[in-house]
Amino acid sequence: MDSLSLPPLRVASGRVRLPGSKSISNRMLLLAALAQGSTEIHDLLDSDDTRVMLAALRKVGVGAMALGAGAWRVEGCGGVFPVKDADLFMGNAGTAIRPLTAALALSGGHYRLSGVARMHERPIGDLVDGLLQIGADVRYTGNPGFPPLAIHPASVKLAGPIRLRGDVSSQFLTALLMALPLTGAEAVIEMTTELISRPYIEITLNLMARFGVTVEREGWQRFTIAAGQRYRSPGVLHVEGDASAASYFLAAGAIGDGPVRVEGVGSGSIQGDVRFADALQRMGARIEWGEQFIEARGPVLGKLKAFDLDLNHIPDAAMTLAVAALFADGRCVLRNIASWRVKETDRIAAMATELRKLGATVEEGADYLAISPASNLVPGAAIDTYDDHRMAMCFSLAALGGVPVTINDPQCVSKTFPDYFDALAEITAPVIAIDGPSASGKGTVAERVAAALGYHYLDSGSLYRLTALAALQAAVALDDESGVAALAGSLPASFEGGRVLLAGDDVTDAIRSEKVSAGASKVAALPAVRAALLARQRAYRRFPGLVADGRDMGSVVFPTAVAKVFLTAAAEARAERRYKQLIAKGMPANMHALLQDLQERDARDAQRSAAPLRQCDDADLVDTTRLDIDAAVAAVMTIVKRQQQ
Ligand code: DC
Repeated sequence: MDSLSLPPLRVASGRVRLPGSKSISNRMLLLAALAQGSTEIHDLLDSDDTRVMLAALRKVGVGAMALGAGAWRVEGCGGVFPVKDADLFMGNAGTAIRPLTAALALSGGHYRLSGVARMHERPIGDLVDGLLQIGADVRYTGNPGFPPLAIHPASVKLAGPIRLRGDVSSQFLTALLMALPLTGAEAVIEMTTELISRPYIEITLNLMARFGVTVEREGWQRFTIAAGQRYRSPGVLHVEGDASAASYFLAAGAIGDGPVRVEGVGSGSIQGDVRFADALQRMGARIEWGEQFIEARGPVLGKLKAFDLDLNHIPDAAMTLAVAALFADGRCVLRNIASWRVKETDRIAAMATELRKLGATVEEGADYLAISPASNLVPGAAIDTYDDHRMAMCFSLAALGGVPVTINDPQCVSKTFPDYFDALAEITAPVIAIDGPSASGKGTVAERVAAALGYHYLDSGSLYRLTALAALQAAVALDDESGVAALAGSLPASFEGGRVLLAGDDVTDAIRSEKVSAGASKVAALPAVRAALLARQRAYRRFPGLVADGRDMGSVVFPTAVAKVFLTAAAEARAERRYKQLIAKGMPANMHALLQDLQERDARDAQRSAAPLRQCDDADLVDTTRLDIDAAVAAVMTIVKRQQQ
């Protein structure tokens, strides 16, 4: 996909389960590889950057096995990589090339490390200088100071302290800290400059400690690793959700009213980027913290407030603040962000260029950005992303200004968050909910409305019908709540070109039989079944929008739908429609029996305790008793247009 057109968005609310943290995933992989014993890592991030790390580790002989569902087993090599000669491609993964360079330089082998063109423009000189001081053999095979690199065996000696710069990237210090225990000797690192991005060093020290190596720290100036420490596997580890990724959704909650809750990071997090929530709070957003979640909503009154902040401690999440600045009530200044210039792209220059496309006035300094938002965002801006995942993710938030925004090369998000746009859609894509009783014509109307708007379509009733059919096929009793719920939770169902498939079989007609209809009505009354289908239904919410039909779409599944319609018709009219449908299909039908059946089903559906059939207070009523399909579609479109204005 060359570009992604985001529709105008106005509100954001819901929950997002975060992918695993990139910083933690890649550190844990390397530490597990260097340790004695095998380590099971759960919730590992699955993205380009972690694949680069895994591939490199495997190439130097480390065993890594996928256990399924984001879990991996890494067989530690006790500090000695078995393969002594390898070419390693590091893509554009800074969290992989820096620490691996240090570890490989101390492992007595011949290794060549290279990456994409941009990687060869990203500095690594300070780290190489540090390694040369202890006798490592690391050479530049391209431009001095940058990858690609060639590493050869050397006898490493730790005499005095290693003197290291810390003002370009904290990853150089992380790399040395993680590698030096391999020497077994006492190692001291002294910083010769200010150390930037300090919270990332805390992540490093925290994870090293979990593998049994402690570092003594004197301020941010001097780090000492006592002699004789070895990495030992702690057994089983879990990766926290990615706090940098959380910033997009928290900002969405602050801009788009909210609440938006991110799950997987919280007050107990070891990632510095959770402090992004404090910056949002300074802008007037309302923030709630839990041990395992953070929730953001908009200010009580009015707009987000302008800010002037030193953001050195949250360099990645700070990019999200630059886009949030578009929604502030005045000039916003982001200070002490020089490291942006050596990231995936020159982020200061890229950010300034793209923010201007949205109408902002931007002043760009060596290490700061000042952003004065326009009173209205420019609609239809085409945002370039510079092969930088964070550019794509943070600029998607501009659509929350109610303007269409195009994101070029959106697939660059795969560096750290392959499903980003799906997750964003689940909290922002507009939903039209069409509720109503069986045979009210809502299916046909909803499908036509979806086609007219170019939206996706969810026929939620078919999921209940599929569940009933699956239960009948598997001989699970329809009142066996947990048995039917288990089937509902893992339905092998798909919708392809108007056909409904169950485990690959075309069941389009089978799910419309009277037996399955009656069964669907029964299983739909079971709370556990409804709960099992909830997440599945919400996952249909995609860009540019969704029309969802079913009796609880507006009340339970999508309570924040932009338009809610309750479509109904007199029971007699509905029975007659069904009668005509059946006759047209050459199926036997009895008008009286159909009417009685419908009335009984209505009564059961209205009385049941789980999601009873009822019109939401905020839904518009459309009675189709005297309307043909075209008139019913027109009535719904009028409501939708009014609500979307
Ligand atoms: O709309 P339909 O007739 O295809 O729905 C099949 C059954 O599932 C019907 O008994 C209503 C029930 N249902 C429900 O309880 N909740 C929904 N969101 C959709 C359908």
